[in-house]
Amino acid sequence: MTEPLKIALAGLGTVGGGVIRLIEANGALIARRAGRPLEIVAVCARDRTKDRGVDLSAYAWEDDMTVLAQRDDIDVVVELVGGSDGPALSLARRTLAAGKGLVTANKAMVAHHGMELAASAEDQGVPLKFEAAVAGGIPVIKGLREGAAANELVRLYGILNGTCNYILTTMERTGRDFADVLKDAQDLGYAEADPTFDVEGIDAAHKLAILAAIGFGARIDFPAVEIEGITRLRAADFDQAAALGYVIRLIGIADCEGPGLFQRVQPYLVPRSLPLAAVDGATNAVVAEGNFAGRLLFQGAGAGDGPTASAVVADLIDIARGDTGAPFSVPAHELDALPPAHAGHRRNRAYLRFTVTDRPGVLAEISAAMRDGGVSIESLIQQGRPEEGGEVLIAMVTHEGPENAVAKGLALLEGSASLTEPPLVMRLLG
Ligand SMILES: NC(=O)c1ccc[n+]([C@@H]2O[C@H](COP(=O)([O-])OP(=O)(O)OC[C@H]3O[C@@H](n4cnc5c(N)ncnc54)[C@H](OP(=O)(O)O)[C@@H]3O)[C@@H](O)[C@H]2O)c1
Repeated sequence: MTEPLKIALAGLGTVGGGVIRLIEANGALIARRAGRPLEIVAVCARDRTKDRGVDLSAYAWEDDMTVLAQRDDIDVVVELVGGSDGPALSLARRTLAAGKGLVTANKAMVAHHGMELAASAEDQGVPLKFEAAVAGGIPVIKGLREGAAANELVRLYGILNGTCNYILTTMERTGRDFADVLKDAQDLGYAEADPTFDVEGIDAAHKLAILAAIGFGARIDFPAVEIEGITRLRAADFDQAAALGYVIRLIGIADCEGPGLFQRVQPYLVPRSLPLAAVDGATNAVVAEGNFAGRLLFQGAGAGDGPTASAVVADLIDIARGDTGAPFSVPAHELDALPPAHAGHRRNRAYLRFTVTDRPGVLAEISAAMRDGGVSIESLIQQGRPEEGGEVLIAMVTHEGPENAVAKGLALLEGSASLTEPPLVMRLLG
């Protein structure tokens, strides 16, 4: 058997610990498949004294992780620290500049700096891999870069954040409100103490921007992702969705429209008949529609030590086998700089929910604004019972029409004394 692939691990938390356990447990099998063993040589974390439930005595310890990039006995650095900038980015830059391969699970860093890092890796002729950065253990990057490489992608969409999916499916099942379920998710370890990145849709947007770049041969454009999280959803929205035969999921969706790239993360109403409606709990799923392959569904655990380590080690196996292909499938300098596609003319059905004060004439005011905006209302689902403080929820579904008609109707209601909060808009996934 040939020389081992020599690895440095930066970050020994959930994923780093998982990588050590996986390589220890499956080392012989991995060596047979990769054609050479994977050998962890050096590690780094903040606190040397912390008990991590794994034996680190065989590995060199570095207090300063940038030293990992300089060691002569390392082929590949695995960055499992996190954060879009700061120490993770500086380690990534130094590793590639030193002519070493880089594996990372860091979606925030790849979404913000992926183009620079890919160009650097390509200039140096070294591998940059980030399978674990999107949808944890699901080999969706591999699926797009390799399995679906012969296809022009029509559309890419999916459930990209397990925390949100856990919260949404729990709200759906129990009828409880967002804040209540979020607290449970935090107690159970499904949500961080600061859940902002997850519940505001930012984490899903990082992943979508990476997938869109690979899927559509475009430069990553994270700032162009239209993002809305799940914090405004109420138990009543789930009742309304259920009455229509839908469930609510946070969906990331991307497609190419003419010369533009459309990218959006938003709660959608998903028909019960679609496979995504059955994706429950912290699971992730991605659908890629190829012009020859048809609809491909990738589904599995989107996070956790085992699944994420599985994706990290899959990248290491590829590197051990000699795969140094372009990280984004197309060389970084050849990726298209696609402008953001405007959503205004996109046609879809929409669910609109208004929270209003309980007084006569409110429904007529909303209906008139929608009519004047050019929105055709398919059904008024409920003029609900007064909630606390005399609030009433009015929900409606529109016929298919352009998004800018809904925007115009809602603009006519801006500043209305009848509304107690801005209207909520969710599209119906069709
Ligand atoms: N957790 C998941 O399920 C999951 C799934 C997909 C992707 N990811 C990504 O994987 C990466 C790691 O996530 P994680 O959940 O494993 O994080 P984590 O449990 O918080 O672990 C982070 C590790 O980085 C170390 N660290 C932080 N700052 C450091 C510094 N300045 N110098 C040296 N070490 C430093 C920490 O050291 P100490 O232990 O000493 O504090 C810790 O070992 C992130 O980019 C995350 O987005 C995670």
